[in-house]
Order: sequence, then structure tokens, then C-alpha cells
Amino acid sequence: NEIRFFCPATIANVTCGFDVLGLCLDTVGDEMVIRKTDDGKVSITRIEGQELPLQTERNVAGVSAMAMLKALGSSQGFEIEIYKKIKPGSGIGSSAASAAGAVFGINKLLGTPFSATELIPFAMEGEKLASGALHADNVAPALLGGFSLVRSYEPLDVIKLHTPGELFASVIHPQIEVKTADARSVLKHSVPLKKAIQQWGNLGGLVSGLYTENYELISRSLNDGIIEPLRSLLIPKFNQVKQAALDAGALGGGISGSGPSIFALSKGQVTAAKVAEAMAGIYAGAGVDFEVHISGI
Ligand code: HSE
Repeated sequence: NEIRFFCPATIANVTCGFDVLGLCLDTVGDEMVIRKTDDGKVSITRIEGQELPLQTERNVAGVSAMAMLKALGSSQGFEIEIYKKIKPGSGIGSSAASAAGAVFGINKLLGTPFSATELIPFAMEGEKLASGALHADNVAPALLGGFSLVRSYEPLDVIKLHTPGELFASVIHPQIEVKTADARSVLKHSVPLKKAIQQWGNLGGLVSGLYTENYELISRSLNDGIIEPLRSLLIPKFNQVKQAALDAGALGGGISGSGPSIFALSKGQVTAAKVAEAMAGIYAGAGVDFEVHISGI
């Protein structure tokens, strides 16, 4: 009647896959405890680590849980405790971890009426509350693990992709907050055809590189000529941090989700550690406070 579990952080977009590609971090995330109650209500009883709303309908976990219970026609009550380690506005899927966590945990306690893929639309309701946009590129990898591709939103069609075994992520978070809604408001609504061609070429190359475990192809494909030039202006020392990661041996990298975190992918944990150190060196040298993570995928 009670479950305690890990709610993973995620990297959305992964450069060329804006709103359609995401990956799940193995070792960075929150913890959640959910237990059944007899009162027929969904209550957020405790949040540690961050100041976030406790009211069910203002909390991403609460909204996702209610969407799921409504679809089931269930009046079972639940208490949710959230131990936040992922900072909101950091760009590694803080709201998605809570939204996906709530539906994952409740689904388990109810005897798994839904598959992991079927849980995605409920978790997206939480994302909508957080950012105003129904994007799935954080909640899908949080629920499915590894890399996920949102092939289509209408109708929703999410595909779990192959994850090469030696791929590691380094993520650095300059200690500022960028709201996803603000980072979306700087984007243009039309894309020049030439840029679109480059972007879908890279996305196809990246997916192919994941399946064939071709790290050189993954490296060539990790580019974003559409979103990064606009959003990187919101991130301190973005170009220097990215360059430091590449110089230290990263395959590639860019903005994690809507930022301000910057990520890099590397082949092997040793390289990922060197890359993290090089990225940290830029912020340390510039007096920017930061937090850095290395994780498997
Ligand atoms: N794809 C979304 C965006 C992810 O970049 O706005 C937000 O984490």
C-alpha cells in the first residue's frame, strides 16, 4: 500500500530533436513516496528540497495523478510525498520527474492497469500546468527510460529508442532559473527550409547512430541550428562551456531542455568525467555558481 521510488531527471531535445527527443539520466533525480488512503482524495502531504505548491490542482504530480484516476474512473485516495533534488527551472525535467513519478507510482499501487506508454498523456497534463505546453520529451524518457522519440503528438506516438551502452551524459547547471515558458517565448514560429533540412538530417543521423552504436555518427549529428542560437543567449558563457566540453573529448552537446543546464554526451564514463571537469572549469573561472552531474543513460 506504499511505494518509494526514484524519479529520474531527463534531457529533452538532445540538440536536433526539439520537442520530440529526450533521454533519461540513470543517477540524477528525485524520490517520491506514495501511499493509498481511504479518503478518496489525492493529497500532496510533503515536499522537501524546494518550495512548490502543495495544493493538488496546482502541483504537477497532483494534476497528473488526477488525470489518470479520472480516466480510470477510480475514487481511490493517495498521499504523495516528494523529495526534490532536481531544481525547478534547471532544464533537466524537474516538473516531468514529479509528473511521471506520480502516475508511475499510482499505476504500480493499482496493479498496473496502464502500460508505461499509456501513462505518458497523464504526465503531459502535469507538464502543461508547469510550462503551458503539452510536450512529452521529458515525461516519455522519464517513464520509458533511455532515449524516447515522440514521432507524433496528434495522435500521440512515442517510440523507445536503442541506447548505446557506453554513452554517458555530463550536465552543468549554472545556478539561475529559466522558466520553460520564457525559453519558449524567445523562439520563432517559422523555420527557414535550409535550417529545417539540416535539422532533420541530423535527427535521422542521431537515431541511426544510436541503433548502430556508431559514436562518430552520433557526434556528427549532435547539432541544433534552430533553437540553440536563440536560447543560448539566456545562458551564461554557453559557447565557452560547450567548446570546453568538445575540447575535452565530448561527442557533442548543447542546451539541456529549455536550459539553463548545458549537457554533453561522451563515449565512456572517464571521458564524461573529464568533460564535466572542463565545463565546470569555465564557470569556476568566471565566478558563476554551478552544480555538475555525470550520469549513465
Ligand atoms: N522541449 C521542451 C522545450 C522541453 O525545449 O521547451 C522543456 O524541458
